[in-house]
Amino acid sequence: MTPEYSRSIPGVLKNALDWSARPYGEASFNDKPTAVVGTSQGGIATAAGQQHLRSVLLHYNALVLGQPEGYIQSTPGLFGEDGTVNDEGTAAFLRSIIEALVTLVERTAPAAVPAV
Ligand SMILES: Cc1cc2nc3c(=O)[nH]c(=O)nc-3n(C[C@H](O)[C@H](O)[C@H](O)COP(=O)(O)O)c2cc1C
Repeated sequence: MTPEYSRSIPGVLKNALDWSARPYGEASFNDKPTAVVGTSQGGIATAAGQQHLRSVLLHYNALVLGQPEGYIQSTPGLFGEDGTVNDEGTAAFLRSIIEALVTLVERTAPAAVPAV
């Protein structure tokens, strides 16, 4: 989950992603199912920043979830101090993204999913 900075991603996140791809040939996101979600106070709610993040992740060959896209406009009280999501509709939507990510994991790396 990322905030949006100047219609892109925070520099520290880009730097962390760059280092996740070193040493050369050992990129951490290679073939990894990945979901992108963002929140900001702005009306476009990180949509522009997320497009940049998707481009960066695809460069590292991450398996980026296409849908649902998660653009969460942060309003006062939406998130608690401990990160709790206080709005049930938003919480349900975030759960749907996690469920879609789990489905992507099952489709792309079935051996990595423990049997239950
Ligand atoms: C340098 C900077 C640039 C930002 N640029 C944007 C932006 O382009 N679009 C947006 O919706 N919010 C922008 N924000 C707001 C952040 O996405 C975020 O909502 C805000 O910083 C609160 O989160 P934080 O407490 O983690 O910093 C910016 C914030 C900072 C500090």
